[in-house]
Amino acid sequence: MSSGGNTTPVVLVSNRLPIGVSVDRGEVRVTMSAGGLATAVSSVHRAQRWQWLGTLGVSDHGAHDASVKEALRARGLSEIAVPPDEYADYYEGFANGVLWPLLHYFVDKVQLDSTQSWNAYRSVNDRFARAVAEAAPPASLVWVHDYQLFLVPERLRALRPDLRIGFFLHVPFPSHEVFRVLPWREELLRGVMGADLVGFHTESYGHHFAVTAAEVLGADIDHDELQWDGRSVRVGAFPISIDIERWRRGARTEQAAQRADELRASAAGRKIILGVDRLDYSKGIPRRLLAIERLLQRYPALAQEAQFVQVAVPSRENIEAYAEYRQSVDAIVGRINGTHGTPDRVPIHMLHKGLEFDELCALYAAADVMLVTPLRDGMNLVAMEYCATQRAPAGALVLSEFAGAADILSDAIRVNPYDIDEVADAIVSALTMSEAERDARMKRLVAAIEANPLDRWSGRFIDALLQHEPAATTVASAPDLATHDRIEWVLDLDGTLVSLADKPDRAIVDDELRALLRVLAATEGYRVHIVSGRPAEWLDAQLAGLDVTLYAEHGARSKARHGDAWSDHIQRDAGFKARARAIIADVAGDLESAFIEEKRWSIAWHYRRVRAEIVAERLGELRARLEQLASQDELAIIDGAKVLELRPRSVSKATTVSTISARCEGATLVVVGDDTTDESMFREAVRVAPTAVTIRVGNGRSAARFRLSDVRAVREYLRAAVVRRQGGAR
Ligand code: UDP
Ligand code: G6P
Repeated sequence: MSSGGNTTPVVLVSNRLPIGVSVDRGEVRVTMSAGGLATAVSSVHRAQRWQWLGTLGVSDHGAHDASVKEALRARGLSEIAVPPDEYADYYEGFANGVLWPLLHYFVDKVQLDSTQSWNAYRSVNDRFARAVAEAAPPASLVWVHDYQLFLVPERLRALRPDLRIGFFLHVPFPSHEVFRVLPWREELLRGVMGADLVGFHTESYGHHFAVTAAEVLGADIDHDELQWDGRSVRVGAFPISIDIERWRRGARTEQAAQRADELRASAAGRKIILGVDRLDYSKGIPRRLLAIERLLQRYPALAQEAQFVQVAVPSRENIEAYAEYRQSVDAIVGRINGTHGTPDRVPIHMLHKGLEFDELCALYAAADVMLVTPLRDGMNLVAMEYCATQRAPAGALVLSEFAGAADILSDAIRVNPYDIDEVADAIVSALTMSEAERDARMKRLVAAIEANPLDRWSGRFIDALLQHEPAATTVASAPDLATHDRIEWVLDLDGTLVSLADKPDRAIVDDELRALLRVLAATEGYRVHIVSGRPAEWLDAQLAGLDVTLYAEHGARSKARHGDAWSDHIQRDAGFKARARAIIADVAGDLESAFIEEKRWSIAWHYRRVRAEIVAERLGELRARLEQLASQDELAIIDGAKVLELRPRSVSKATTVSTISARCEGATLVVVGDDTTDESMFREAVRVAPTAVTIRVGNGRSAARFRLSDVRAVREYLRAAVVRRQGGAR
């Protein structure tokens, strides 16, 4: 696998460990856990021997604790124990009573009053974070799995900032219109955003997640990264797969081949149509049964020609929605068998239990048609497992378009599982398809699975996690400048001296700041430069009467002191603004909630109020068209906070800082700023004046040498510099 060279330890974390352990008459009994997560991650775990932490579900191994621990330890597993009551609220109440239905678009099945279960969910996620924080080796990688543990990444990061944290979701992530229904949406998203990398089965789930993070948390979508809270979180599609060789071999053992023959013999010439699912309402079993019933009505002889076998693995039986589901499935089976059965045979054979690997392999191998018709499914491994076990003459796979696997298995007979007639027709196609076509399709299906082997899934994920730049490291907080005689203060305004407001016109210079700038400018040896992207008129109105040099529009215009006229530093025509306006109108003119701001030397498109999903569609095209204009017209594009600005390339904050530096030899340049345009100042300041003190406000990756936390800290820092200087002068 591609991360074969990785020597960094990896810790796996999931709610359920891949095995169940019970104690039977003093003997420890081990069973395999069902479900796609357990199957896939165990195969990776078998190959890599990484440490794996999780629960055994509700387990009361009390007196046999030591033997259970030993059984787990021998397999590289560690149990995180959760008290039974808390576990029930967390697992049945919140994870599977609220999150599972919501993530699968079953909004009406979300449990009504969930305050208690939400509290348990938080508390169990805390427990997990603490247990992992204790167990993970220094600077290791932690890979957290699935929706039961949405809050773990953020909590773990707070406890162990040295870790790299990956999160993988095994189920769908729905449209943000569905996710935002949750009262706890913000805390849940913050939890996941604690990870460095968030993986999904498909690009579409990743897209939904990114849009939700943008809409709910205000994160910025930047290609495959989300910028939020001063960190970047990578989002990617990592489609899971199966250990294809294991299933292939499993179906070819003598024992499995013999068992498959027995199953065929007992079908007595009838075609075997198979379904294998956890008994979960997302799997679409009732509609599948209704499709069979419709066929039996249309072709009563089918009862003698086909045998439908449904393996329904019991799942989450204490949850009401699951209990009701089982009843409705049983009722439909009863009705169909009652109507279409004969004394010696029934059309539907239902098994309410999980099967051992060997038995499952034999059943897959014996089945002529496999029905995988979930209403929603993150991926669905059963569909792939079936393909892996087929030999010529192969069977046929009917697959729901709402399973993630449909993106990969495009040679299956694709159905909309809600359309009962379509499913019925698909079963007929599968039963009547020529052997040559079945074989050809199966070959392509197997090739598609082989093209994305399971170790590629885990390898790509771990590689991406290793490559992700760790979150910004803390740099030294701003230095004491007492020994510097002359200081040229180069200060950004918005986000540095004044807090950012939702709308630019709401951010104003308050009296406290005005007083502070007045004393700073009056302090001996200090000169103050305010370098802003704002227009000249605005700066005039806000900073009137102060003895500071003002730079408007990133330095395109400046004014040395109060009462002077503004000087323009750009000599060219401004015709580019009309050309940019036409492009914006063409690409995004219909977006009512966006607006254009025009300054003397720039034009900016503000899109803060446009829905993230809509912006994502347009931004790429707009940027591309403006870039073309920029290269023809010597312009620069600035990607600001929800604003795209276009202005002449000849003047920028960087050129401004170098002009200031050239005029003040012998003084120390202190540059303070908070965003991308200020980053160019930091780099330029250090280039032209190696002793420059550069200070970044807030989190985030930065070229600055020092850091201050926020606007308040900047003001305190300036005040202290004044007080110290006055103290020194006294
Ligand atoms: N499975 C199992 N025992 C059974 C039937 C199925 O362990 O009796 C396994 C099956 O081999 C597959 C997994 O359970 O690997 C189901 O994964 P899938 O992705 O299809 O659905 P999930 O249950 O995760 O929703
Ligand atoms: C799905 C989920 C897994 C879960 C499995 C079985 O595959 O994505 O997280 O483990 O179902 O469900 P259970 O509730 O029994 O763990």
